[in-house]
Parts: sequence; structure tokens; C-alpha cells
Amino acid sequence: MRGRFITFEGIDGAGKSTHIEPVAEQLRASGHTVVVTREPGGTPLAERLRELLLNAPMDALTEALLVFAARRDHVQQVIAPALARGDTVLCDRFTDATFAYQGAGRGFDSAVLKTLESWVHAELQPDLTFWFDVSAEQAAERLAAARTPDRFEQQDATFFSRVSDGYRVRAETYSQRFVRIDSSVDRDAVSRQVMTALAGRCW
Ligand code: TYD
Repeated sequence: MRGRFITFEGIDGAGKSTHIEPVAEQLRASGHTVVVTREPGGTPLAERLRELLLNAPMDALTEALLVFAARRDHVQQVIAPALARGDTVLCDRFTDATFAYQGAGRGFDSAVLKTLESWVHAELQPDLTFWFDVSAEQAAERLAAARTPDRFEQQDATFFSRVSDGYRVRAETYSQRFVRIDSSVDRDAVSRQVMTALAGRCW
């Protein structure tokens, strides 16, 4: 049987990444074989494209093409084989991020993104998507304390409000697989929401 595909999404500073390993541990404890990966990235080629995406100036179409080029390699080399083996795949961001960042954030044509999506992974969609929802202002405060910003993290709060709206639309459209996590609260409270949602799936 095909394994489960679980993705983690949210604007920069939403705090999603710290919750992936605990979810992996929980699933391993219940007997699942778990692959943890991320986008852009997850293969040597896609990690090289990630470096470019996060640092090199480029226009929105180039950005969209590189994101999907990285995804193509990642799906073929890592995600699809793992799911075919029956493993559970936990992925830090996937195509919802492209609709949120390149689509809503950059204002790039979502019809083109849909076409690229259908070329790259037509039949493959996540089974569950955790959306870590936090205001653009709170996310910016967290980021300011954290690290040197990359090309996306340098964007202003209005950009992240648009990205957030993009995620909201995705969550409404794909309400079956989206679980909204209130990420404005402290880390333990966020973690409890994630674990409760996971337990509710009985995997
Ligand atoms: P991120 O998960 O934030 O990595 P880190 O926590 O290590 O900074 O992902 C890197 C950036 O890539 C993030 O700012 C969002 C951006 N991104 C897109 O713009 N489109 C996409 O399709 C993906 C997967 C990521």
C-alpha cells in the first residue's frame, strides 16, 4: 500500500520546522518507517537549486521554474519511491508553498503554476498538510531574533500577509487534507495541536 505523504506549511517565522522531528518520532514509535525531507531541496540537485532560489536575484517565472525543477527531481528520486515502499514521507513545504509564495506573494499567474504542477506531479498530492498559521507581524518578530534573512525572509510584512492569504485559500480549497495549527501560541501548545491532529488520523 502507498505510504502517507504529510507536508508542513506556513510563512517564514511560523515555527513549523521544529515540529517535524517530533512527528517523525511519534510515527516511528507507532511502527512507521519515516522519511523526513524538505523543499526546495531533498536531493543533491534540488539542494543546489535551493541555494540559487534563496540567494540569487531572479524574476518570478524563473523562480517558479526552478522551484518545480527542484520538485521534479525530489519527487522522482525521493518522495515517489518512498511512498511506493509504503514509507511515511514528512516534507517541510511542498506545492502549497509555491501557490502561496510565487502565486499569492509574488503575484505570479496561478494558472501557469497549475500547469507546471500537472507536469511535475499530476497524481501525487499530500494526504495531510499542517498549516502553521501566524500573523505576518508575529512571524517577523520571530525571524528578526533568529538569523540572517535569505531572499524570501527579507520581504516585508505585506508580502507575508499575501502569502498567508494564499495559504488560507489553499486551506479552504483543500479542506479535507489541511489542518490549521494556531501558531501564535507557545511551542508546547503548538506541539499539542499537532499531536492531537495526528492522533485523530489514527495512523
Ligand atoms: P524554509 O522552509 O523557510 O527553509 P528555512 O526554514 O531553512 O529557511 O524554505 C525556504 C524558502 O523557500 C521559504 O522562504 C519559502 C520559499 N519557497 C518558495 O518560495 N516556494 C516554494 O515552492 C517552496 C517549497 C519554498
